[in-house]
Amino acid sequence: MLNIESSYLKIKIYDKQIENKKIIILNLFNFFPKEDIDFELDSDGLIIYLKELDFLKFKKQVEIEIKKTTDKESKNLLHTILEKIEKIKSYGLKGKKRLYVDYNKERKVKNREEKEASRGKFYYAIGNNFSKINDKLPEQFLNKIIVGDSEFVLKQLPDNCIDLIFTSPPYNFGLDYENHQDGVDWEKYFEKLFSIFKECIRVLKYGGRIIVNVQPLFSDYVPIHHIISNFFMENKLIWKGEILWDKHNYNCKYTAWGSWKSPSNPYLKYTWEFLEIFCKGDLKHEGDDKMADITADEFKKWVYAKWDIQPEYNMKKYGHPAMFPEELVERVLKLFSFKGDIILDPFNGVGTTTAVAKRLSRNYLGIDISKEYCKKAEERLKNTQIDMTLF
Ligand SMILES: C[S@@+](CC[C@H](N)C(=O)[O-])C[C@H]1O[C@@H](n2cnc3c(N)ncnc32)[C@H](O)[C@@H]1O
Repeated sequence: MLNIESSYLKIKIYDKQIENKKIIILNLFNFFPKEDIDFELDSDGLIIYLKELDFLKFKKQVEIEIKKTTDKESKNLLHTILEKIEKIKSYGLKGKKRLYVDYNKERKVKNREEKEASRGKFYYAIGNNFSKINDKLPEQFLNKIIVGDSEFVLKQLPDNCIDLIFTSPPYNFGLDYENHQDGVDWEKYFEKLFSIFKECIRVLKYGGRIIVNVQPLFSDYVPIHHIISNFFMENKLIWKGEILWDKHNYNCKYTAWGSWKSPSNPYLKYTWEFLEIFCKGDLKHEGDDKMADITADEFKKWVYAKWDIQPEYNMKKYGHPAMFPEELVERVLKLFSFKGDIILDPFNGVGTTTAVAKRLSRNYLGIDISKEYCKKAEERLKNTQIDMTLF
């Protein structure tokens, strides 16, 4: 017997007549290496020392031993042994073997905290000069929809006055917007987008978040989500993570743009978009926990960063070609903001963000360059009631 009890899982089976069953136990355990599983008898019964085991092989062997013996007591003991080991649900795996001890230790990085400290977390965001002093959003912008170019509207706002920005910018696909030319030269597109995002960073509070919903233009091989993320990192924001919004819109043909059944140039298909999440200065957003409105169930589900949500099907009704669905906004706001926070959407379209913000008792500011879309966003707000079930 290897006398190092602490590195084995100990299982006790009480049986005063255990000495009479020693042979059958020996028969069974002889099939397995002593370093993996061993036993001892004492006056109370049987002690099993378990380290690792090919459990399926063990189960088969127990069944063979049960068939071989005619003694009812021995059969019972064999059943009990199997049952006790089968009941252990916490183990690691190494090939066919279940590891009953130290399986976590092997996976853990030693001195994780020290290594993290010397490696540096979000090294790219170090040395930011963000002020920690937050400001109030002036009354004339509070709970308003504003028609205009966000780059210039945002310049009128003080620094550090917005808690959360959620938006989906125009993707430069060539969509038919009411008052905005979609599908320009990529350099011009990013230049304009980044001049607006620079203002977004400035107006965001310390500890505030900017979450950008973006669909890369796969057909043109432009990874917009990476380019945007890189911009935020260069501007010293912390990348908090990425949510994959799966719309499950399987409507693509197998061969479109690519090669059929040939590795020469297969075209990859996507049914999802991304939500890139960035924080200004701190991962933690200050707030009163009494103002959190996410339920335990919602929290458990939504922290898994793959969200299955249908795309918006009401675009015709609102006359807008690229809306996101209310459910997407609802999850973002409940997971990343408190009631009473100020939410900004600088590409507000027909006001999905602002309508949901109002319903969920957040303050809002929505900006869009199209007068027509802003009118619809206003109408939507008029028809939106604050959800009193959240109080
Ligand atoms: C993808 S859509 C957003 C739709 C919105 N999420 C919704 O659900 O209605 C992008 C919007 O950006 C607006 N836009 C484009 N350039 C802009 C600018 N410079 N300033 C403000 N809005 C702009 C467009 O009019 C369009 O409505």
